[in-house]
This record gives sequence, structure tokens and C-alpha cells, in this order.
Amino acid sequence: MEAADRYILEHSSAQDEALAWIQRQTNIRTNHARMLSGAVQGRFLKMITEMLDAHHILELGTFTGYSAVCLASGFREPEKSHLDTLELNDELEDLILEGFDRAGLADTISLHIGDCKETLRRFHEEGRKGRYDLVFIDANKREYPEYYDLVFDLVRPGGWILGDNVLWDGKVWEEPMPQDKQTLGIAKFNDMVAADPRVESVILPLRDGLNIIHKL
Ligand SMILES: C[S@@+](CC[C@H](N)C(=O)[O-])C[C@H]1O[C@@H](n2cnc3c(N)ncnc32)[C@H](O)[C@@H]1O
Repeated sequence: MEAADRYILEHSSAQDEALAWIQRQTNIRTNHARMLSGAVQGRFLKMITEMLDAHHILELGTFTGYSAVCLASGFREPEKSHLDTLELNDELEDLILEGFDRAGLADTISLHIGDCKETLRRFHEEGRKGRYDLVFIDANKREYPEYYDLVFDLVRPGGWILGDNVLWDGKVWEEPMPQDKQTLGIAKFNDMVAADPRVESVILPLRDGLNIIHKL
């Protein structure tokens, strides 16, 4: 860990026991612990829920549930609030659900296993247009442009979309830009958002970059 990251971690609120458990289990039981949001971004996500007073949140890409727990921990009125989180990998289901339970959020978060594009199309058919105050996009980087189109109408006017990893280790401004599908997906997403007159947006260099998008 770089000195700046360590300083920031040591001078931000520590994660609670349930999040520490998810992080430990992610390290032990998966090969992709780097994908987990981590304590600093996680605290930021919790505060975003609090600052927006969000009641309905949608997440694309649950992984082991760390960011879902952070986002849902910020609900001010948990009994009137809900988070839907979408994950492709059914092998993670038991770990995810145990984490939600340990965080006391089993009734507050619904896990939807399957390709999130299919789940989002179903949400449209179910009439969820305008339901969400906040959407956190953190699934397959190749598909970010498609996710943006699919979630846009599910967000209420005045609502928010967060796109994670939008700096992609700096690959998006390398010249020539790497032509792998993940870099191209992220670059196209950032271009779409920047050119979209329906939104106001800013990219924060938090961790691997967070695109904060306000639907006008
Ligand atoms: C970067 S990880 C998510 C990390 C998590 N949000 C966190 O911060 O702890 C991306 C996740 O998206 C999932 N994923 C990839 N493609 C997907 C798809 N088409 N539908 C749903 N989930 C997908 C992957 O299986 C992986 O668990």
C-alpha cells in the first residue's frame, strides 16, 4: 500500500466487524480480493447514502457484498428503504447472504443472481422506472455503456449514478489507448456521460476513479 493510501486509511473511520468479516472471507475464499471496494471507498459509499438520504438503491456487481453492505448501512430509515444488488456468479451466493445477515441487513438487501442486463430488462417490465435514488455500477467493465442505457430510466429525475473504476489504472488516457475490451468499455462510458446533456457529472480520483453522475 502506498504511503498516501495508508495515511488516508489510518485517518478515516475504521470498518465495523461485519465488513472486516466480509473482507477476511473474500481474501480466504476468492482469488479476486482486489475487486472489493475497501474501507475508504466503503465509508464514502455509506456517507453518499446518508448525504442523499437515499431510500432505494440499485447495485450492479455484488461480488462478496462489501459495497452493498456499505451503501445499505447508510439508510437513515432502514425499515422504509431497500437495496437491490445484482451478481452473475452464483458460487458467491452463500458468502454474500451470510455477510448481509452478519451486518443485520438480510431484510434490507435483495440479491438477484444472474446476468444483470437480463435482471435490468426484467425490472423495466416490472415497472420500476424512476424507482431508484442511487445506482452503483461496478460489474463487467466491458458492458458499462450498456448498463448506463439500461439503468438510466430506472433512476428518478434528480437521482444519482456512480460508475466505479472509471480511471482504470490510467489506461483511459494512455496514448495510444490500450484496445482491450475493458479499457474500451470504460472509455466509452466516460465519453457518453461527459457528452450527455441529461446529466451533470464529475470524476473523483477515489481509489480507481468514481464517476458521480446527477440525473437532471
Ligand atoms: C468489481 S466486482 C464488484 C465489487 C463490489 N461492488 C464491491 O465493491 O465489493 C464485479 C462483480 O461483477 C460481477 N459481474 C460481472 N459481469 C456481470 C453481469 N453481467 N451481471 C452481474 N454481475 C456481473 C462479477 O462476477 C463480480 O463479482
